[in-house]
This record gives sequence, structure tokens and C-alpha cells, in this order.
Amino acid sequence: EKGGYDHFMLKEIYEQPRAYRDTMRGRVSEDGRSVVLPELSITAEQLRAVSRVHIVACGTAMHAGMVGKTVIERLARIPVEVDVASEYRYRSPIITKDTLVIVVSQSGETADTLAALREAKRCGARVLAITNVVGSSVAREADDVIITLAGPEIAVASTKAYSTMLVAFFLLGLYMAQTLGTQEEAEIAHILAAMDALPEQVERILAQADTVKGIAESIAKSSSLFFIGRGIDYAVALEGSLKLKEISYIHSEAYAAGELKHGTLALIEDGVPVIALLTQEDLFEKTVSNIKEVKARGAEVLGLVNEGHEAESAKSVDRQFAIPRTLPLLTPALSVIPLQLLSYYASLALGHDVDKPRNLAKSVTVE
Ligand code: M6R
Repeated sequence: EKGGYDHFMLKEIYEQPRAYRDTMRGRVSEDGRSVVLPELSITAEQLRAVSRVHIVACGTAMHAGMVGKTVIERLARIPVEVDVASEYRYRSPIITKDTLVIVVSQSGETADTLAALREAKRCGARVLAITNVVGSSVAREADDVIITLAGPEIAVASTKAYSTMLVAFFLLGLYMAQTLGTQEEAEIAHILAAMDALPEQVERILAQADTVKGIAESIAKSSSLFFIGRGIDYAVALEGSLKLKEISYIHSEAYAAGELKHGTLALIEDGVPVIALLTQEDLFEKTVSNIKEVKARGAEVLGLVNEGHEAESAKSVDRQFAIPRTLPLLTPALSVIPLQLLSYYASLALGHDVDKPRNLAKSVTVE
């Protein structure tokens, strides 16, 4: 059942190229120039009336939602807020009839996410669900559903569900943009072509799993480490940090790179590993200055960079791992892969139960 892999998590990491293809299949027009989402019942008129979007989810699904916020804001120019589902109801969110609430849940059964969905509907908002499970509670109760075609995810640590949630957000962001007319048709076609290349690019990263394994084995000796990044790199840093904590039990924190000097820098001492995500080239110099701050305090920096940018980043990091080049907005679909592998191999090196980490359940059905 593990298809020859030692663990479900590893199998599911390797299924991601297939999962990307399946999640895109049938959702792009034949000429490759537009997104088709026949499953949506929301009309163009209703979509044009949406004045704000709330994305509500837990854990890894919430991290996918943070990327979704950037995608929707950049492509469709609608303001988006992201909330942790367990907090949403209690902050008296301003939910009006022109609010679109997007709930994201692999299982479709997470209690807090379901409660948020019900609250949103009670307030008269339309709810769109992104979920991996057809017929789940979330799928049944939402007005619209985009199913991710990751296939069953068994490992507690979510991998292929996260990455297909990203694909769902890319498709939805493009769909909103084409409906609202906020992007040129050529730009939409350009992004779709870049998405088409993602599965093969993921395969190229997976082919370097041994390199990541080596890095993981050295990191596994640390008692604490940090992930830093700016913009969507920060969203991916949060996901990388959660994954590592969840299965390797190594303490880690993810920080928006520019926030370090507002307190956290005090924790950086000799030999502390810092994983710096540097995929957003317009923010590169800014993040490099934050790398200098941690290096001055003795940190060992691993840079996650774009191919072709290695010579530039070699000047500031100790080690680096390069991911294939894609559009800035799509990088999370690639940068998360080495981070998943990193946590897998760190957990393995420490002898933990990768698929069933302590204290955690696959589906959290209590609030
Ligand atoms: O099924 P859901 O997507 O609603 O689950 C949400 C979280 O419980 C889940 O993503 C959790 O954070 C993962 N175990 C992280 O790997």
C-alpha cells in the first residue's frame, strides 16, 4: 500500500507531480488561455459583486491560504484576510453579503473550519471550499467546492494536499482575474504555461532528494532552528517550520525576515541553523541584509534560491539548494518540496514515527 516507499509521507511527497497534473486537468481551456471551473455555481455577476475575501483554515491548510491571499490580491485585486479557523468566530469578523469566505481543508472534517463555514453562512456570505475529500462535511455544506485531486493523504504531515491547495488557489485567482478583467488574456496564458511546467520541475527537485537528506542529517543534531523569508517566502517558511516541528520534534520558528531584529535575533547564537528562502528576486537584497544580521551572530545559513541565482547568493549563505525557475507567484509550489523532504529526513534520522507523530491526529474533529 505504500507503493514501495518506506513511509506514506515519502510516497505522498513523490506523488506531487501526478497530483499537480490531476488538479489542473480539465480546468484549463484547450487553447491554454483561460481557466474553466464548471463545478462553480457562483455566477460572473456574483463574483464581480465580491468586495472582500476571507480565507479560513487550520495548520497547513491555513499556510496554503496565506499563499492564496497573495495570489488573489495580485491577480484579482480584491482585498483578502486570512484567519486561523479557531480564532475566526471569536473576533466578530465583518462578514457581509459581498464577502466570499473560502474555507480550506484537506479532510473537510476539521471542527474549527466547519464551525467557521457555518458562521459565515449564518451571516449571509457565500462559502467556497477547497478540499481534498468529495462528500466531506465541508464539501457538503459549502455553496461551491473546488476539489483538489491529491488522492487520499494518509501521513499525518500534510504534503500533497498543501501543494494541490496551492494549485487550486492559482486556478481560482486566475479565474477571478479573467472574470473581473483584472489581467490581460496573454498574462493569464503566460501563468498557465508556467503552471504546466511545475510537475516536471517538481520531479527535478525530487531527483535531488539525497542532497536534502544530507542537509537534514546535519540539521537533525540541532536543538533549534529558524526559517526566514519575505512575502510568499514567509508563508512557505511557516509551512516548512510546522512540518519540521510536527514530525522531527526539533524546535523551529519561522520569521518574516525583517522582523528578526525586533526581538528574535537574541536567540541566534553560534551554529544555529537558519534556513533563508530567497526565491523572490525583488526582495533578494532586503533578505540578504537580514542574512548578514544572523551570520554576524554565528548562524549557519542555508539558502533556498532560484536556479541561476546561485553565484549571487553564494556571497551571503553557507550552503544553498536551488529550485527550478518559475514565476515569482508560483514559487511556493516548488520551494515547499525541499522543505518537506528536509523534515522527512530529519525525522527519519532521529528515529521518529514519521507517519504518526506523537500527540497528533490526521483529522482534528474537536474544537
Ligand atoms: O484536514 P485539514 O486540512 O482541515 O487539516 C488542517 C490541519 O489539521 C493540518 O493541515 C495539520 O496542520 C497538518 N497535520 C500539518 O501537516
